[in-house]
Amino acid sequence: MQINKVKGTYDVLPTESYRWHALEEKIHSILKLYNIKEMRTPIMEYSEVFHRQSELSDMVTKETYDFDDRGERRLTLRPEGTAGVIRSYVENKLYASQELEKVYYIGPNFRYERPQKGRYRQFYQFGVEAIGTVDPALDAEMIMLAYDFIKRLGLKGVSVKINSLGDDESRRAYQEALTKHFEPHHDTLCDDCKARLIKNPLRILDCKIDQKHEAVMHAPTPQDYLNEFSRAYFNQVLAHLNASQIKYQISPKLVRGLDYYSHTVFEIEADIEGFGAQNVLGGGGRYQKLVSELGGPELGGIGFACGMERLLLALDAENIELAKADQLDAYVIVMGEELRITGSKILFDLRQSNLIADMNYTKKAFKGQLKQALRLDAKYLIILGEEEFKKGVVGIKNTKTEIQEEVPLRNITMYIKENGEK
Ligand code: HAM
Repeated sequence: MQINKVKGTYDVLPTESYRWHALEEKIHSILKLYNIKEMRTPIMEYSEVFHRQSELSDMVTKETYDFDDRGERRLTLRPEGTAGVIRSYVENKLYASQELEKVYYIGPNFRYERPQKGRYRQFYQFGVEAIGTVDPALDAEMIMLAYDFIKRLGLKGVSVKINSLGDDESRRAYQEALTKHFEPHHDTLCDDCKARLIKNPLRILDCKIDQKHEAVMHAPTPQDYLNEFSRAYFNQVLAHLNASQIKYQISPKLVRGLDYYSHTVFEIEADIEGFGAQNVLGGGGRYQKLVSELGGPELGGIGFACGMERLLLALDAENIELAKADQLDAYVIVMGEELRITGSKILFDLRQSNLIADMNYTKKAFKGQLKQALRLDAKYLIILGEEEFKKGVVGIKNTKTEIQEEVPLRNITMYIKENGEK
């Protein structure tokens, strides 16, 4: 019986993996410019890393993959990267050696969401976190990095949506205002939002059911409740962005879908043909309590993450190729059973000389082997026939110029290296 992939997942086929490599290489090379090192944390964590009392987002309360392992430990497949990075930051006491720790990560995340184009149940994120320091310059740096990264991919119409939720005091004032605003509408809200009204009215704003509810559309915005410190902090962030001419828009309704944020929140978009709502390529913000909630000192952080499938879909829609699939330098065509040992020696020598090479293993006739070589876009065909072999030579054919020459067996790799790009 054939078993298909799990709903909301996908396979990266051998013909597509070069696009992932190219994107990953881009990430590594750009992050190097920002002096940020990679960090790798496990895909599974103890559930408490994500299921914290303060986190009431749909993502954590409704979409996580939770399970007991065989030792009856409660584990969760990470739905996002930040909490695991902070768990590791605290566990490894990274705060003890550096005031500011900046890291990036690439890896899969799991959310039980309704799958659609650009939304999967297993998806990859590339993310960055800067932990330990509270400084508007750092908030701006993360936004500039996200912006720079998307632009360097070649995407057009890149813009940042930004907002501030303010500090604790401002957030509290805003939440009180939201409670007051929504209370008269209690009966017309969905059941989840009725509960949210008591626990955390902010979450009503990104409810998928009540999105178009009149009261949601006309809800107060955080900007009106920022205290002096929070407003000054936000203005500083904007001043940094202005100085570097980063295109941004203040988006008063932006609150983001996770509960750990305070102060700066942002999302990054690009104009992509046929993308609609999935044009949000990444998002992030500042978090002031996450480190202490996960057992560390009172230190703040800021970061963002981009969905890698969305980036690849966007590049596709805009016909941007970060790289071409690797072309074979040479393909060995063997004409006769008794020459196969020589064929595999030639192949091994080519690879030892760092040439990308392959040969045919299905013992096809010349025509079949040629077809395979052309399908693989080989630059050179190395034709090993009995007549030639007796003379100690092979035929080497340049598939572009169609010029074929006889080359002594011992000079094959030298010939291909020297003629290289011709
Ligand atoms: P997020 O907004 O939940 O934030 O996810 C960031 C990005 O991941 C989204 O903008 C989107 O591109 C991608 N994404 C999210 N869910 C899916 C999905 N189901 N399928 C495909 N792509 C998806 C976070 O995860 C925060 N940890 C970001 C952050 C880092 N905040 C501070 N530091």
